[in-house]
Amino acid sequence: MWNGIIERYKKFLPITEKTPVITLKEGNTPLIPSRYASSLIGSGVEVYFKCEGFNPTCSFKDRGMTLAISKALEAGSRACMCASTGNTSASASAYAARAGMRCIVLIPEGAIALGKLSQAMIHGADVLAVKGNFDDALNIVKEITKRYPITLVNSINPYRIEGQKTGAFEICDVLGDAPEFHAIPVGNAGNITAYWKGYKEYKDSGASKKLPVMLGFQASGAAPIVKGHPIKNPKTIATAIRIGNPASWKQAQGARDESGGIIDMVTDREILDAYKMLASKEGIFAEPASAASVAGILKLAKKGYFYRKQRTENREQSIRIVCVLTGHGLKDPDRAIASVKKPKSIRPKVEAVLEHLKL
Ligand code: F0G
Repeated sequence: MWNGIIERYKKFLPITEKTPVITLKEGNTPLIPSRYASSLIGSGVEVYFKCEGFNPTCSFKDRGMTLAISKALEAGSRACMCASTGNTSASASAYAARAGMRCIVLIPEGAIALGKLSQAMIHGADVLAVKGNFDDALNIVKEITKRYPITLVNSINPYRIEGQKTGAFEICDVLGDAPEFHAIPVGNAGNITAYWKGYKEYKDSGASKKLPVMLGFQASGAAPIVKGHPIKNPKTIATAIRIGNPASWKQAQGARDESGGIIDMVTDREILDAYKMLASKEGIFAEPASAASVAGILKLAKKGYFYRKQRTENREQSIRIVCVLTGHGLKDPDRAIASVKKPKSIRPKVEAVLEHLKL
């Protein structure tokens, strides 16, 4: 029976017998082979999707939150707080509810997806909408949690990173080793930091043999790491990664440089095309920010990036690329509905249906 990431990977995690484990059985998410994207990239390439939308609150945040909330409870904390573009708040509020803790979330007003807002609200968090962006909200949370006995559960909390690194373990367990490339959207840069840490620790333990090349993708209107400076007013339709000054900036650069990888950017158009392609050709409904990883590898493929890699390594085996699909598409129903044609309204008659179907 699957009992969550703490139970499964405890020897890699900072827990003791005394840690009260708060779990919703997160993790064990499917690694789905691509049927379509692989063919766009070229022969000798296998793309896989690590579908993190299958977690209990429908994003990867649950891996970090189970550990952050369990450790907060162990330390005697009665309340937690975060700033969020949506998914962190959804996850924190669910795990805090489970732990019987108070949860306070600060969100950028008008800039988080409907599904995420509904989650934080129904789980009973104190939701405050800040007239500012994510970066403003995070600064306030840092200040308040310094002054009051409230646990900060953004990814600057090291337990969040520890929990999230288990995504890398699962990928290695399924593939038998690390993939050649790991593609991931980058917002506050916690997840790229966590995956790189996970891949390194698994290799050091002997559970895997190699390390992947890390490929991080930001939205072009919110690409501080690519541009080399903070962005004051980040803009993108991928609201989850609308962040101008990532907390784990240095660690993300470290993952890029140590792995010989890239942090690049993709336009909103490219993100939306990948988002629709995933849903209509792969049968996978992921949120727009998640599609940045797929948009990114398609962009690199067009420039011959993977082909060159195959040539220089003279490979006989396929190259494996894992794209992390960080959150479920239902998080942002408005974006889905705005992206495609509306259903036609017709009379309740067989002929009316047939007229439209042109069978
Ligand atoms: N994808 C999704 C769906 C996200 O919600 C986030 C971040 C990211 C990617 C980027 O991950 O921040 O670790 O680089 N969401 C945070 C939040 C910021 O508040 O929910 P990151």
